[in-house]
Amino acid sequence: MRPIALQVTFTEYDSSEELPPEDQELIREARKVMDSAYAPYSRFHVGAALRMEHGAIVTGSNQENASYPEGLCAERVALFSAGAVHPGIKIKTLAVVAASKNHRIDKPVTPCGACRQVIAEYEHRYSQPIRLIMTGETGKVLVADGIRQLLPFLFNGDDLKSK
Ligand code: THU
Repeated sequence: MRPIALQVTFTEYDSSEELPPEDQELIREARKVMDSAYAPYSRFHVGAALRMEHGAIVTGSNQENASYPEGLCAERVALFSAGAVHPGIKIKTLAVVAASKNHRIDKPVTPCGACRQVIAEYEHRYSQPIRLIMTGETGKVLVADGIRQLLPFLFNGDDLKSK
């Protein structure tokens, strides 16, 4: 028996202005698309913007449903849209922002577990980590170099193959 400790690494920025211009643009696009969130139940608006290897930016916002589980998070709306519109093109970076109609969000919002699993799928599909940028309405920005920082023991297609 031996305990094993895992370490995750993030970079924290005091504001988005400290990030490179390309990342600032992605955060701006994620903020813009928050307006299209359909969130009458949670009043929690999320915007996601991802940059693809050929430069295209694809965005998504959360889309809720009266039958709650049938709604979809902003991250998955953006990722599935990228998969549908630009199949075979790698995803470099994904930015996620959130704002609530009920209270101010002054710390980074991180993707839910289901979105982490979907991000892991796209990393595996394109054999390339996806940089993650996470922030709230105001406050700090967190950057991770890939989904393993948020989902260390992830499950992917390799686990389905015989060794
Ligand atoms: N939501 C997202 O879109 N992304 C996240 O990372 C967390 C949660 C959405 C789902 C739901 O519409 C609302 O936020 C409240 O959970």
